[in-house]
Formats: sequence, structure tokens, C-alpha cells
Amino acid sequence: MMEWTDRHCRFFHRVLTRRALLYTEMITTGAVLRGDRARLLAFDPAEHPIAVQLGGSDPKALAESARICADAGYDEINLNVGCPSDRVKEGRFGACLMAEPQLVGDCVAAMKAAVSIPVTVKCRIGIDEQDPEESLDTLTRLVVAAGTDALIVHARKAWLDGLSPKENRDIPPLDYDRVYRLKRAHPNLHISINGGIASVEQAAEHLAHVDGVMMGRAAYQEPWRLLAVDPMIYGEVAPLESTKAAIEAFIPYVERELARGTRLHSMTRHILGLFQAVPGARAFRRHIATEAVKPGAGIAVLREALARVVDARKDLAQHAA
Ligand SMILES: Cc1cc2nc3c(=O)[nH]c(=O)nc-3n(C[C@H](O)[C@H](O)[C@H](O)COP(=O)(O)O)c2cc1C
Repeated sequence: MMEWTDRHCRFFHRVLTRRALLYTEMITTGAVLRGDRARLLAFDPAEHPIAVQLGGSDPKALAESARICADAGYDEINLNVGCPSDRVKEGRFGACLMAEPQLVGDCVAAMKAAVSIPVTVKCRIGIDEQDPEESLDTLTRLVVAAGTDALIVHARKAWLDGLSPKENRDIPPLDYDRVYRLKRAHPNLHISINGGIASVEQAAEHLAHVDGVMMGRAAYQEPWRLLAVDPMIYGEVAPLESTKAAIEAFIPYVERELARGTRLHSMTRHILGLFQAVPGARAFRRHIATEAVKPGAGIAVLREALARVVDARKDLAQHAA
């Protein structure tokens, strides 16, 4: 997610779940091919498994970008066919590609030919006046023919005229049944569902119908939920006993990054929602919000904030409930 799932955020999320697949922000082919590649594509080895999401619509540029990302060590290349912003539309990529399914197929085929890691597509069920029965079927048929390894469907339309990107994440109604029907029609295709999934419990329910679940806002805004992913979805023990332990596990990374010149706020902005319904959660947030932004703020701010969280031992039991 743009501006949200940068490498600091992903490192922090990885502390909370060993198994969930993490995604980068969308990176355009122009940025991969001509931008500050070392900075844009950098990630910590601890972030694996990690998918890079590309934005573009030129098969050659996508193939070259995919190759660069595979060489950088990413585990999956994902193509964005769901973003509705004007900037993206002007660049002729993102959700407007729902209207050019053959081009999406060509892009997938070019990327598949360039890399040996999985190539996947994230799409909407349709855009504007499209009939989602037809638009999603057509796109799926063409990307399957091109060799896509999985499809992630944000289960609502995008309206490219008239709605802002934010409204396009809330206003067009969710249609989970449309995605379930797609899965029944393509039993051999790995299909993940996305959109409005608010908890790991809800994610587990979707897994009765589809192969995977992508959580966006809930994972970012309420990262404590991620602690339930490994136990509830994978039947494995959680990596940590409590969310408080997540901060302890994050501190060595923060210290390393501070030493490299990264500002404390760039990292702590991703952890504000970690504590919920535990004494001191508000004091934790307030301390970070006011202190971490100050010039020269160091690790002491994080430790002081953590000290305000009185008792997080019940976390896991609460999260699983
Ligand atoms: C701030 C923000 C940035 C986003 N950036 C991207 C992006 O770069 N690529 C993408 O495929 N979706 C992006 N999305 C959409 C989410 O991935 C997701 O499809 C959408 O929020 C619906 O899922 P959710 O209800 O679980 O959040 C973004 C969403 C938000 C809130």
C-alpha cells in the first residue's frame, strides 16, 4: 500500500507473523528502470516471503522490471490492475487495465518469460459500466492463458470517473460471491480475496471459499491482529507471546536504522495501532506521536513509550477470542 507498506512497516509486520506474504507499495516500471533502484527495491532479508508490486502496462518494461526485482531477491512479482488514481490512469495502468485484458495477458506473458519466480495479478471485479461477470471472467481467462500463478481480487468495482481513490476503497459495494464463483469456475487457479476483511477470524472464514486472503487496512491500522495469523491460519505457534514483545523484537532493527540515519518517526509511524484494549495503549500512542517526530529522537522514545504499556500479557488470548 502506497505510503504505508514501506520496508520499515514490513519488517515490523514480519515480527508479528512468520508466514503471511508481505507486499511492497506499488512501484512503477519507470521508477524501477530509471529511479533510485537501490533505495526503491531495498528490503531486509527478514522480510521474506515478500512480493513486489509493479505498476505498468508496457510488456517490455514490465519484463525488464520483473527481472530486476527477481535479481534483487523478491519472491513474487505482482501486477497492479486495481489502483484507480488519476495519476495511474494517465499512465495507462492500474485499474483502467481492466478494460484492456488482452494487454494484461501480454504483460503477464512477458514477465513470465523473464523470471522464474511466481507472477501474479491483483485486480478489481470490474470498472465503471463493465458487467463484473464478464470483465472478471475475461481478465481471468487471459491471465491464466498467459501463465499467471495467482489472482488476487479486490471484490468491488472501481469507478474511474467521479470517485477518489479513497472512495473507491469504500463506496462500490463488496461482492465476495463474485470471487467465490470465480474460484469455483477455476479450481486450479490460486485465487485470493481482498476488500473489507477486518479480522483474521473473517479471513479464516473466506478460506472455505478461496485459497488466500489479502488484508490491507486492518493489517496496517491494527497490526496486533497479525499475531493471530500463524496460529489461526497456519496452525503454528505465534512468533511472540505478546504485542509488547513485538516492540522488543523491533528495537534492534530500529537501532540499526537510526545508526544509518533513518529518522525514528519513519519507523514508529507504523506501530501506533499495535496496542488495543490494553492499559497504557493511549499513552503509548501519545508519547510516540509527540516525541518521535522531534529532531534527533532516539531509541529512548520507543522504550519510554513501551514502559507506558502496563500489561500486555493478555494480548494473545484477547486476539484469539
Ligand atoms: C493508503 C493505501 C494505499 C494503497 N496502495 C495500494 C497499492 O499500492 N497497490 C494496491 O494493489 N493496492 C493498494 N491499496 C488498496 C489495498 O491494497 C486494498 O486493495 C484495499 O484497501 C481494500 O482492502 P482492505 O479493505 O483490506 O484495505 C492501498 C490502500 C490504501 C488504504
